Amino acid sequence: MLTELNAKQRVAQHAADLIEDDMVVGLGTGSTANYFIEALAKRQEMGLRCTTVASSVVSTIKAKSLGLPQMSMEHLDHIDIYVDGADEVTEDKTLLKGRGSDLVREKLLARACDEFYVLVDQSKLVTRIGQLYPIPIEVMPFAWQMVLRDLEALGGEGQLRPNAYGDGLAMTSHGSLVLDMTFENSDALVLDTTLNALPGVVEHGIFAHLATAVFIADESVDVIEQRR
Ligand code: 5RP
Repeated sequence: MLTELNAKQRVAQHAADLIEDDMVVGLGTGSTANYFIEALAKRQEMGLRCTTVASSVVSTIKAKSLGLPQMSMEHLDHIDIYVDGADEVTEDKTLLKGRGSDLVREKLLARACDEFYVLVDQSKLVTRIGQLYPIPIEVMPFAWQMVLRDLEALGGEGQLRPNAYGDGLAMTSHGSLVLDMTFENSDALVLDTTLNALPGVVEHGIFAHLATAVFIADESVDVIEQRR
């Protein structure tokens, strides 16, 4: 029953119901993406045929454990649908992502898909990117001080992300370090363009002009769809 599901599960189920036979589906990373992977696996048990491509080691393991067929990214130049959560979403569907450490694959899938469905609850809706969380910026390890200086010159403040134990630095799947930066009153679209051009930056958490639909779980059983 849809009413027995929590908000993240409801919105994940809603997205899974939109997957059609023979689609190649990108799997996001995080708790909401995990619910989507579970819902997709249930649809497969009911007869759906699809292939998946994971955005992280964690989602690879999750999909494998549930028997979803997978392809690795290097065999693909395009996918049908990518489904993932986000940390913040503005009204124009700009996203902040990257509390995890797999921004590179996430952005590649977001760019390679025909449709990018973003699954959130009301707590993720913001008026400006950076309202709730710092902006994660993946940097080449040897470049972090130079990049930090450039970011500070742009008005940013921040530091290297510590690892989960607090006794070292967090490292992405690709061996990058992460700077978690705040920028007072800066325009996310301008920042996106600036960060894209900064040497030493591998990837960053602003996803602009990529989401095609945002599915929002509200307090009721309804899922609100905002499409482009
Ligand atoms: C990982 C992400 C996640 O999608 C984002 O952090 C949302 O996570 P959750 O679904 O657990 O709230 O961007 O890089």
